[in-house]
Amino acid sequence: MENKLLVLNMKMYMDIDDVNNYIKKISNLSNNVILCPESIYIPYFINKYDNIAIQSIYPIDKGAYTGCISAYHAKKMGVNYAIVGHSECRKYFNLTDEYINEQILSAINNNLKVILCIGETLEEKNALKTKEKLKYQLDVDLKGINSNDIIIAYEPIFSIGTGNVPTNDDIYDTIEYVKEILREKGLNSIVIYGGSVNPKNIKNLSSISNVDGFIVGKSSSIPEEVLEMEKLLRS
Ligand code: PGA
Repeated sequence: MENKLLVLNMKMYMDIDDVNNYIKKISNLSNNVILCPESIYIPYFINKYDNIAIQSIYPIDKGAYTGCISAYHAKKMGVNYAIVGHSECRKYFNLTDEYINEQILSAINNNLKVILCIGETLEEKNALKTKEKLKYQLDVDLKGINSNDIIIAYEPIFSIGTGNVPTNDDIYDTIEYVKEILREKGLNSIVIYGGSVNPKNIKNLSSISNVDGFIVGKSSSIPEEVLEMEKLLRS
């Protein structure tokens, strides 16, 4: 249990006062923690923590792309991971899986490790299409990728920010399936779970034997909850 990964996806929850408070309160994190601040705050985090992820990247290294951030520039700033394919990015920026594949290739080419988010909607789950959706995402997103520097985050979309967490058995079965697909591709990536993880449920969720860690949204922006989750995960 001590080695489970904890990915802190702070999304766009914090203002600068929150960031200063966060950094003051959070130190001595284990190196199994990856912090993913909003991009403008990355310079505040970069020399204080081992593992920093950028929340998204544009798949071109340099040029006239207003509003975009490249993997190349993130890497030069000291960032070592990139989240790719989060369901909020897929939705708000209308990302296709082909585009996500380009993002992954760009990240890998620039030596950023990737946290690839995949997951089904409630409609897809109810229509028994979870496996089909996940296989499609893995097939297209990972086309031409043979790097093991990819972490897969299974995040059922209906669980994100809702408190509606699948049963442990459901999570186990889905993660087994994801690992089987990855093995078929010759990849042995670790697979983490995300969706309403918090200090109240992380201990129970960490008893699921094939879950290699967690990606946390809302709770990751609250320092007391981060410290509590770290304690629970490492005890
Ligand atoms: P949540 O978000 O923990 O707020 O549900 C998880 C995520 O989107 O990564």
